[in-house]
Amino acid sequence: MVMERCDVLAGFSEEPGHVTRRFATPALRLASDALAEWMRAAGMDVRRDNIGNLIGRYEANRPGARTLLLGSHLDSVRDAGRYDGPLGVLAALACVERLHEHGRRLPFAIEVLAFADEEGVRYRTAYLGSQVVAGCFDLAQLALADADGVTMDEAIRAFGGDPSNLAGDACSDDDLLGYCEVHIEQGPVLEARGYPVGVVTAIAGQSRFAITFTGVAGHAGTVPMELRHDALVAAAEFIGWANTYARREPGLVATIGQIDAYPNVSNVIPGRVTMSLDVRHQDDEQRFRAIERLHACAAKIAAVSGIEVEWDLVQEHHSVPCSAELTQRLMQAIASLGHSVWELPSGAGHDGVMLSRLTPIAMLFVRCKSGISHNPAEAVAEEDVAVAIEVLGHFLELLG
Ligand code: HGY
Ligand code: MN
Ligand code: MN
Repeated sequence: MVMERCDVLAGFSEEPGHVTRRFATPALRLASDALAEWMRAAGMDVRRDNIGNLIGRYEANRPGARTLLLGSHLDSVRDAGRYDGPLGVLAALACVERLHEHGRRLPFAIEVLAFADEEGVRYRTAYLGSQVVAGCFDLAQLALADADGVTMDEAIRAFGGDPSNLAGDACSDDDLLGYCEVHIEQGPVLEARGYPVGVVTAIAGQSRFAITFTGVAGHAGTVPMELRHDALVAAAEFIGWANTYARREPGLVATIGQIDAYPNVSNVIPGRVTMSLDVRHQDDEQRFRAIERLHACAAKIAAVSGIEVEWDLVQEHHSVPCSAELTQRLMQAIASLGHSVWELPSGAGHDGVMLSRLTPIAMLFVRCKSGISHNPAEAVAEEDVAVAIEVLGHFLELLG
């Protein structure tokens, strides 16, 4: 059922034929509405908060019991795979459905969260949904405008939320059992080792920058090469250096995923280039050291080529360890089903980064084909998804 439902949700997209489902878009609303129906059919009370998170609650076998949070995100990157996010929400829902089918309730309540924005594609700020749940949403973000000039405030209202009430949506339950997320690994380790699932030790810290190189636009035919201040050449030099540097530094990844040249026409020397830079490392100190080197390199390239460079931090999250206690339970659940336990870090960010401010977190990774993700070729094996659901179901029993 989970695989079929991933296919159904993949059909809710801003770009026909691709999976593109950004924050507060009609495509996200359709996916959220479909999920709400499935949650209600599983005996859950369903609500949507003001940022657009969908929350399904399955009550405990007694009033006043503690609550365990499960889930993942419903938004996607552009031209995404169909499992990054939805698999975690649907695996959690499958466990609740199983309880509901057997008329069972556990000694704790379960809330399945479908976060409205983990990727940060529309406003370049990740974790908007989980920031609200964790009570750390920065209201200044409401003024951010997307590529069409629509502010976050306007987008939230259009989606049916009230930005002035976001603070009220913070999870007030200070007695949570924890947060556990099932997610595809998005890397090649589990496949290389032959494990269907693995447990996450920590989520890498990440820094996202907006870099602008400003040179002098000019005529492609008349300005001699030695007299140019070509912003795109400077940017290309920086990209090459960043790539070589990151390859040399163990555990470091540096990515320029977005680049815009201005005026972006073939017979004009580019006067301005804006681009993104995403830097990650398991160790925060090493990430900071790398950022210093990258920034110094950009400044040096700019100085040599008579170009200006602006280096703006967009968003930064430190590395987050998973809870040893909750992870131990996950490992116990894996072992009791006869599978070997494999621990691995997450290079990808996850909503657990925000939820860790609220409660202990744990993550269960599912093997994915060739580690491909953020790519329509993303794929998981149905039998590995079944293992993950079995493990999560057993994890719930062990917590009971
Ligand atoms: O970028 C990430 O790490 C995650 O996919 N949002
Ligand atoms: Mn994800
Ligand atoms: Mn992702």
